[in-house]
Amino acid sequence: MLADKKILLIISGGIAAYKSLDLIRRLRERQVGVVPVLTRAAEEFVTPLTVSALAGVKVYRDLFDLTDEAEMGHIELSRAADLVVVAPATADLMAKMAGGHANDLATTLLMATDKPVLIAPAMNVKMWEHPATQRNLATLQADGIRVVGPAEGAMACGEFGPGRMSEVPEIIAAIEATFGHGPLSGRHVLVTSGPTHEPIDPVRYIANRSSGAQGTAIAAALRDLGARVSFITGPASVPPPAGVDVIPVETAAEMEKAVAAALPADAAIFAAAVADWRVDNAAGQKIKKRAGDVLPTLNFVENPDILATVAQMGEGRPQLVIGFAAETEEVERHATGKRARKGCDWIVANDVSPGTGIMGGTENAVTLITADGAETWPRLSKVETAARLAARIAETLA
Ligand code: C5P
Repeated sequence: MLADKKILLIISGGIAAYKSLDLIRRLRERQVGVVPVLTRAAEEFVTPLTVSALAGVKVYRDLFDLTDEAEMGHIELSRAADLVVVAPATADLMAKMAGGHANDLATTLLMATDKPVLIAPAMNVKMWEHPATQRNLATLQADGIRVVGPAEGAMACGEFGPGRMSEVPEIIAAIEATFGHGPLSGRHVLVTSGPTHEPIDPVRYIANRSSGAQGTAIAAALRDLGARVSFITGPASVPPPAGVDVIPVETAAEMEKAVAAALPADAAIFAAAVADWRVDNAAGQKIKKRAGDVLPTLNFVENPDILATVAQMGEGRPQLVIGFAAETEEVERHATGKRARKGCDWIVANDVSPGTGIMGGTENAVTLITADGAETWPRLSKVETAARLAARIAETLA
């Protein structure tokens, strides 16, 4: 499937660089042309000679190498491949990428390329979990950078947790997915995300604290597995992922229409925090505050339940309909009841009570409710939660 593709492989300076040697061999077995680039720090871990010998071509190391520039300028080099892979991607390189630095060959190529970029992060668990790295990760994903891993397990530094670079077969699977060969290729999935804004008058509205982070991460994870994604988003505070069809909406009524227009789909994931009610007597003009006036009264009507409508639609129903349940108490009991009431296949339940930091935060603690019962996942970043959910969706649709 990968035969004759060309990959620009950037190796940055981490102990996981040794795995990249095997990655080069496995890619070459698949007739992939690998053009290797080493950062200065990477040369402390693997030698240019080894990398060049395995790749069967010269290795690029220096932005200011006059011979290299004469043969193939760095801009041309950044665009000559079909895909740019960064493995391992260290915390430092991720920070530079997120900040738009271009002060060595690797960062300059990453800024100049017009090709998709896949990174395989590798670092100490505390460095991975550091808010700065998580912020950079979110920025990179919002910029359309694809991410594989990191995996969880024992690390070279003796600690345990997420941070190990993904194993070579996983990286190759992720590379295949970027070329449209992922387990969800040919599938259409629909994701709702973000809050809704329900107008009171032309300048005021009722909203909620949803950031859209979890829905955005789910859309990106499904895209990374090869799916065509319709991303129907309310006014979220995080940008939508690249490489998906973005359908921006404001109100629940608009979201309902956009969902109906995006069907049919193989799976529909309703991660939006839809307002349960809207203002029935919303004013056409700004409501004025006048001394002595009686205070305005808002009358509410119920919004359409988009999830329940799709889950119960009979003909044309997506094979897999997934809802979310944001609960503040008795999460499992309430979510199990919600699954039955809505008629959906799965409920992804989370405890959003104050103090968990989940609503508007970067982490999630999920209980997945299916026909088989409840399954509690560890507290993970929203990105990792999304990757797990996307993998489960792919398994189920297979
Ligand atoms: O009933 P509740 O709002 O708790 O249900 C949450 C789930 O239902 C979420 O998946 C949400 O996206 C979906 N929902 C919807 N339309 C509504 C209300 C909720 O699709 N009007």
